[in-house]
Amino acid sequence: MKPVLLIVARLPSFLTEKLTAQFDCHHRDTLDDAAFAALAPRVQGVVANGESIFTAQDYVPLTGLKVLAVFGVGYDGIDTRAAQIHGVSVSHTPDVLTDDVADFAFAHMMAAARHVKQADAFVRRGDWQRGPHPFTTRVTGAKIGIVGLGRIGHAIARRAEGFDMQIAYTGRTRQADNAYDYVDSVVKLAEQVDFLVVAAPGGADTYHLINTPVLAALGANGYLINVGRGSLVDAQALALALTQGTIAGAALDVFENEPKVDQVLLDAPNLLLSPHMASGTASTRLAMADLVVDNLLAHFAGKPLLTPVPQK
Ligand code: NAP
Ligand code: 8YV
Repeated sequence: MKPVLLIVARLPSFLTEKLTAQFDCHHRDTLDDAAFAALAPRVQGVVANGESIFTAQDYVPLTGLKVLAVFGVGYDGIDTRAAQIHGVSVSHTPDVLTDDVADFAFAHMMAAARHVKQADAFVRRGDWQRGPHPFTTRVTGAKIGIVGLGRIGHAIARRAEGFDMQIAYTGRTRQADNAYDYVDSVVKLAEQVDFLVVAAPGGADTYHLINTPVLAALGANGYLINVGRGSLVDAQALALALTQGTIAGAALDVFENEPKVDQVLLDAPNLLLSPHMASGTASTRLAMADLVVDNLLAHFAGKPLLTPVPQK
């Protein structure tokens, strides 16, 4: 008998196919209330993604649940405390996506500073016939401040070294194993840098960490880049800062209510948007899928998870 899995997120077809080959899979969004009630006690594993919300209530009907595998490194939407209470092990997909997310943060930073999107529109509108594009902002040698110097933050810092940037970071702890400048608050970090790059997790602790005072501190020549989670940025404050020229520009890959994007952001100037795709290369998404399946196979073989989320 194949173990029974409940899939609670929209997953790429190659992952669904891998899961279906090994497990008895059921998609939550295809089950009506009666079908779900009948299935719930038989569910042994849940598959979610980095954007999934899985609350304490969601564990209650799944009385046989033992493992929850997240297709993504971020798991701020998963109530891991409730998982512990219910004896559910949780895995995620760290490391395999780190380089792609750092590459994308850099792509956003370069595109925002050098007005890549605006320059394309400038040529297409025929504005070039009337004169040159305005000057843009130099990245090489500039100051970068990283909010969340974890796996992805470090990969961003390594790329910044290649651009001769001065690197500073903030987080809850000073890290002893690098020479980057530690700054103990986001406002102080924003004051010091040209580019503020967010690579920290979402959740209650980081909610709207990037707010009006931080944007004011970043200043009229500063850029904000967010590849962490949408909940870290106060979208209303950001839209106002862009409209009033409090900061020079921003680039966002993640949004608080994604895939819905606040109209104030869609209307704001000097803002580059992308649809939560920083880890979205074919090879990385395949590696993430393999890690999800390997974690589940390890669990059902009675072995430890390969990549469990850290215990609090
Ligand atoms: P990680 O290695 O756990 O790093 C997270 C970093 O954030 C740590 O250095 C941590 O440092 C810092 N942090 C935690 N709480 C903080 C707080 N309250 N204030 C400031 N910093 C804080 O995780 P990762 O693998 O680098 O991934 C980071 C995040 O990127 C994920 O959680 C996810 O939200 C996001 N992500 C986005 C995409 C995308 O497609 N856009 C893809 C993958 C990941 P301290 O413990 O010292 O505070
Ligand atoms: C998404 C991410 O999970 O890993 C994360 O935390 O945010 C992304 O990699 C990915 O879009 C799958 O949903």
